[in-house]
Amino acid sequence: MSRLILDSSNPVAPGQVIWRSPSNIALVKYWGKHGIQLPRNPSLSLTLAASFTDTLLEYAPRETPDDGQVELDFFFHEQENEAFRTKILEFLNSLAPTMPFLKQLKFTIRTGNSFPHSAGIASSASAMSALALCLCSLEDRLFGTLRDADAFDQKASVLARLGSGSACRSIFPHAAVWGATQFVPGSSDDFAVPVGDLINPVFKDFHDDILIVSREEKSVSSRAGHALMDGNPYAEPRYAQARARMGALLEAMKSGDLATFGKIVEDEALTLHALMMCSNPSYTLMRPDSLAIIEKVRQYRADTGNPVYFTLDAGPNVHLIYPGDIITDVRKFIDDHLLEHCEDNYVQQDWVGEGPEEK
Ligand code: PMV
Repeated sequence: MSRLILDSSNPVAPGQVIWRSPSNIALVKYWGKHGIQLPRNPSLSLTLAASFTDTLLEYAPRETPDDGQVELDFFFHEQENEAFRTKILEFLNSLAPTMPFLKQLKFTIRTGNSFPHSAGIASSASAMSALALCLCSLEDRLFGTLRDADAFDQKASVLARLGSGSACRSIFPHAAVWGATQFVPGSSDDFAVPVGDLINPVFKDFHDDILIVSREEKSVSSRAGHALMDGNPYAEPRYAQARARMGALLEAMKSGDLATFGKIVEDEALTLHALMMCSNPSYTLMRPDSLAIIEKVRQYRADTGNPVYFTLDAGPNVHLIYPGDIITDVRKFIDDHLLEHCEDNYVQQDWVGEGPEEK
C-alpha cells in the first residue's frame, strides 16, 4: 500500500480540483453514534439535486515549515470565514496521519452552497462530501491509488463520514444506505453504499420540497443531539426499531408500495423528534408551524389520496416528499395552504439526483 508521502526532491506542480456534491434527506434516520463517527443503526437516504455545495481545492507545494498543522486558506462565498476554516482545518489535521501529503502542501479552499446560508438547510452533508471528493481526486492525481471507481467512491464516503456522519451517503446517486445491515449485501458502518439499483424507479423521480419553517440556527446541534442518545432510556429499543424499519422500508421501496413507504418514513421522522423530547435534558426542535404542516399534509392525503409524505431533519423544517407525476397538485396545495407556515414564504425545491459531479 502506498504511504501517500510526496517525494520532496520532485515538487508537485500547483493545481486544483473541483467537485459539486448534493445534500441528502434521510428516510431511516441516523441518530446516535460511537467511536469515530460510527452509527448505532443503519440509515437510508435519498440523494438530492438542487441543494449542493461547490468546492474548489487549490494546492501547491507548502512554503512554510511543518508546524503540525495543515496550511489552509478558506473562502466561503468569496469571503474569509474563520469559523468554517477552523472546522475544516481540524478535519484535515485529523486526516493527516493517514494522508501525510496533506501537510506537505498548501491549500486554498473556495466553497459555496446553492442555497442561502441562513435558510436553515443543513449544509454539512453537501460540504463534507464535496471536500472528501476533492481530497480523493487529489490523492489519485498525486499517487494513482484510486483509479478504480468503486475504491474511489468508498474512500470518499469514508472521508465524508469522518467529516459529518450523514455526508457519507451523499457520494452516491438516487439512494444510499450507511451502516451494516443484513438487508444490503456489502453494507458497512465505515461507508455508505448505493442502493439505487435495489429500488423501484418511481423513487428516482421523487421530489422533496423543503418548507422552511425557521431559518434560525438550531438550539441544540446534531453533535449534542447524538451525544444525548447515550443516556436515553429508549436508545436500545430505538436502534432495534431502526434496524427492523430498514428491512421493511427497503421491501416497500423494491415493490413501489408507496403507502407502506410513507408510513415508515413519517414514523421515522416523528421518532427522531420523540427521541429529542425524551433526552435528558429534553428539547424540541419542531415549531408550531411544523406541526400545523404535518396535520395539513395528513388531511390533504386523506382528502385526495395523493401519496405525499413528510419527513424532518434535526430541525423545524418539513420535507414534503412525493412522486413527480403529482407535482402540479402538490405545488398548488403548498401555495394555497402551506406557504403561510414558512418563514418569508420560502420553499427550497429539490428532487432525487444523480449524485456528485467533478467539474
Ligand atoms: O451527520 P450529522 O451528524 O449532522 O447527523 C445528521 C442526523 C440527521 O440528519 C438527523 C439524520 C440523518 O440520518 O441524516
